Amino acid sequence: MRSLARRQEPPVPGLLPATGQSELARDGQAGLGGRGRGGEPVLEIADLSVAYRTTAGDVHAVEHVDLSLHPGEVVGLAGESGSGKSTLAYGACRLLRPPAIITGGSVTYRGRRLAEPVELLSLHPEQLRALRWREIAIVFQSAMNALNPVLKIRDQLLDVIEAHLDLSRDEAHERVGSLLDLVAIPRTRLKSYPHELSGGMRQRVMIAMALATDPEVVIMDEPTTALDVVVQRDILGQVVELKQELGFSVLFITHDLSLLLELAERIAVMYAGRLVEVAASQELLHAPAHPYTRGLLGSFPSLRGPRRELAGIPGSPPDLRGLPPGCPFLPRCAFATDSCAEVDMHLEPVGEATSGHLTACPFVTPGSPSPPSPPSPNGKGGRR
Ligand SMILES: Nc1ncnc2c1ncn2[C@@H]1O[C@H](COP(=O)(O)OP(=O)(O)OP(=O)(O)O)[C@@H](O)[C@H]1O
Ligand code: SF4
Ligand SMILES: [Mg+2]
Repeated sequence: MRSLARRQEPPVPGLLPATGQSELARDGQAGLGGRGRGGEPVLEIADLSVAYRTTAGDVHAVEHVDLSLHPGEVVGLAGESGSGKSTLAYGACRLLRPPAIITGGSVTYRGRRLAEPVELLSLHPEQLRALRWREIAIVFQSAMNALNPVLKIRDQLLDVIEAHLDLSRDEAHERVGSLLDLVAIPRTRLKSYPHELSGGMRQRVMIAMALATDPEVVIMDEPTTALDVVVQRDILGQVVELKQELGFSVLFITHDLSLLLELAERIAVMYAGRLVEVAASQELLHAPAHPYTRGLLGSFPSLRGPRRELAGIPGSPPDLRGLPPGCPFLPRCAFATDSCAEVDMHLEPVGEATSGHLTACPFVTPGSPSPPSPPSPNGKGGRR
């Protein structure tokens, strides 16, 4: 893969121009995952709540979520279908349409091209449009099918570049070529229509499109679920390589916790619209605290460890309209006691406050032994 060097670009239209000082700071950190703005996160979601206002009542899809993404970091967001992962990501970028409403919180973006941090939730729509793609790029769920079927991939990439970067036609063409090199698609495919490409290639084009404007943050929402596991891991491995080279940060959303354990530095686990656990990947794998995380980890086969019986998580996620007070995982939790109906759900540190390992369960810690499994119908016992 060839390199796509960071360029000195004009400031984001409609936003304050970067000062000389911040440009210098940026040059010193380019592509290295260094900490911008004195170690502060590049994207900081704080106390965000999003609801879907329906005739049957508000669906509280995201409730009081705090999540930060540091420069150069890959953070994974995991959870079952319907847990609110996409709503969290799209809500943070104000991409949701009614009946979705943001009911509270803040989202601060501290891109190195900006002179000042910006609050995404109060930004003027025009400024927000300029910032999306240019600064924060999103690969949507089912992105593979999001390409325009009647446009050659070259023209689709050119459209994105011309809409956001001030380049000559020749420079824009050269950038399109470099982008294809970057995601390992031969330039001979530039004139192909999407249907002439394999699924993996279309996915790579979408990733190239997300990187076309040299963004600081890339949000990938289940970008490769339609692909087989080998292609999936190959593409995502490339994204991580590119991240090392170009220094962007990634928020990676998937059901597949095993994939995140390989790719992400930190993982946030979401259940019923809340984050229930956040930890460094290896810590989450070896010392999970929350019973839901334990259930997720027990739901997929280990690639390297000893063979074990898969347990799954009994029951199904709750209806997000009018959850009862207390822990939303209660009906499915093997550790549950009467006190769980009164618990105030919020993340607290596990052990040392500085460890960065947080859990929403006040009762179960990484060392807590699993309760005995109920006998399974075939008499073999359950969880191991
Ligand atoms: N337009 C809508 N109106 C009402 N409820 C909605 C709407 N869109 C999503 N929801 C509900 O919001 C909740 C969160 O949905 P979301 O799509 O964010 O989940 P997800 O974790 O991304 O799921 P998946 O893994 O299947 O993509 C779900 O309960 C869903 O039914
Ligand atoms: S609070 Fe209770 S029900 Fe909820 S995860 Fe902890 S032990 Fe289980
Ligand atoms: Mg989703």
